[in-house]
Amino acid sequence: MFLLNTHPDHNASLLPVDAEVLGADGALEVRRFLEFRENAAATPLVALPALADALGVGVIHVKDEGQRLGLGSFKALGGSYAVVRLVLEQASRHFECDVGFSDLNRPSLRAVAAKMTFACATDGNHGRSVAQGAQLVGARSVIFVHGGVSGERVAAIARFGAEMVRFDGTYDETVAEAARVAEREGWSIVSDTSWPGYERIPGLVMQGYTAIADEALDQLDRPPTHIFVQAGVGGIAAALAGHFAEMLGEHRPNFVVVEPARAACILASARTGRVTRIDHGEPTVMAMLECYEPSLVAWRVLSRVTDAFMAVEEEDAVAAMNRLARPAGDDRAIVSGESGCVGLAGLMRALAEPEWKAALRLDASSRILLINTEGATDPGLYEQLVGSSPASVAGRAREVTSA
Ligand SMILES: Cc1ncc(COP(=O)(O)O)c(C=O)c1O
Repeated sequence: MFLLNTHPDHNASLLPVDAEVLGADGALEVRRFLEFRENAAATPLVALPALADALGVGVIHVKDEGQRLGLGSFKALGGSYAVVRLVLEQASRHFECDVGFSDLNRPSLRAVAAKMTFACATDGNHGRSVAQGAQLVGARSVIFVHGGVSGERVAAIARFGAEMVRFDGTYDETVAEAARVAEREGWSIVSDTSWPGYERIPGLVMQGYTAIADEALDQLDRPPTHIFVQAGVGGIAAALAGHFAEMLGEHRPNFVVVEPARAACILASARTGRVTRIDHGEPTVMAMLECYEPSLVAWRVLSRVTDAFMAVEEEDAVAAMNRLARPAGDDRAIVSGESGCVGLAGLMRALAEPEWKAALRLDASSRILLINTEGATDPGLYEQLVGSSPASVAGRAREVTSA
């Protein structure tokens, strides 16, 4: 499934509200936040020249988010950042003066945070980030998960002191339940998806993700010509596409959104021209991308600055995981989870379909940027799909790096 963007807003500027969130000022605020975090070094940008040769493109770089802030996925940037910003805003109101990131450890600020509760629904990674942010400032977190979230993922969230609620429904139903309970209890809901009347907090979550694009622009010699980014509700895709568009204007890269064929709600929205909810189907191995309705803000951005939408099959994702685990030539191995490698799955599929390849103008001069959005966040499943443990693949990566 492949669709070029034919939306009437395609190539229009971002709305001012979105440009403010995703542009240079937004990214600068995230940089300031990261200065006060541990393990906040920029994530590695890995060149894969042998893979680029094998696929017939110029250069492939993978921004490897597998170790972001010690959490295992890019989501570490969004939820925790939004929680901290909300605590600072509450404290600024309380003390009637500006309170900043450097005040995070002040007992008076922690006393304000201790009275706050943050809730969200999650497939796994976003909830871990919200829980970590709450723990960082001494606030309470309540995280809702649906039945499909593995025990390992639930335990990984609970480790940050979160109270866990299992809800018997889909991801989208769990989002609605978390919002309902939070409203009743007076908690702040920190969702990674947005809906009419609820845009600001998901905007902060997306602002957190701009750090990936901001760092990549620093790390690359030349900007990419193409970016393939995987999508669930579209938050990371919109954050990157929006930031690149704001920073590079008409020289922005060709931007392609990749989804699982079993949960391609953004592709469906591209077809209808508006936010479209799709039917719940069979579960996908790309579990973190199993969303059935795009985020309103993400769609608003993507309809303007995405060039194509595509969907990949289950086996495409597993093939991409394996390709990154067992690289060609001297390329470094990358531990990439089932949802982490989907940008590469999209690139490989686009290159295998002559019409898609031509439509995207992919050739031997293309400079591709991909994001490994997660490491092995479910190590048991990773080993089952790749045939090696995450530790042994990571060991191979170290051998290449140190060679
Ligand atoms: C590893 C991983 N990759 C990609 C995504 C997609 O992000 P979004 O829902 O913002 O599109 C998610 C979402 O949870 C994720 O956990």
